[in-house]
Amino acid sequence: MIAIASDHGGLETKEEIKAFLQSAGHSLADLGTNNSDSVDYPDFGIDLSRRVASGEFEKGILVCGTGIGMSIVANKVPGIRAALVGDIFSARMSKEHNNANVLVIGGRVTGKGLAIELVRTWLEAKFEGGRHQKRLDKITDLENKD
Ligand code: RB5
Repeated sequence: MIAIASDHGGLETKEEIKAFLQSAGHSLADLGTNNSDSVDYPDFGIDLSRRVASGEFEKGILVCGTGIGMSIVANKVPGIRAALVGDIFSARMSKEHNNANVLVIGGRVTGKGLAIELVRTWLEAKFEGGRHQKRLDKITDLENKD
């Protein structure tokens, strides 16, 4: 199951992505925010990231204004590989090479149509493993040592 969350800066884009995922038949959990009141993106980023890292959700999508705050906070959670993307090539590579388990989009910098294509591309891509797994193992080692 896919989890999705945003702050107020990413709310409209989150709703667009949600509608796309639902119409494509994905099971989805919306972890908020659900109105335009100003909120703190770490609250939503930490909650979703911890729940992906624990295995409660298979993967997650985070949206804030630029995507920067959400990507910073998500990558603080051990086990999370969050990729902030704004182009299709990076969305594909984030899965094929980095096995990103959280996709991050900037709702104020990425058009709604592109946001949906980024999500579609990331979901359809497959992790290539091999030499890329070895590199991810080094990141896991870092998490376990520090
Ligand atoms: C909220 O105004 C904004 O700072 C937030 O959505 C995000 O862009 C932070 O990185």
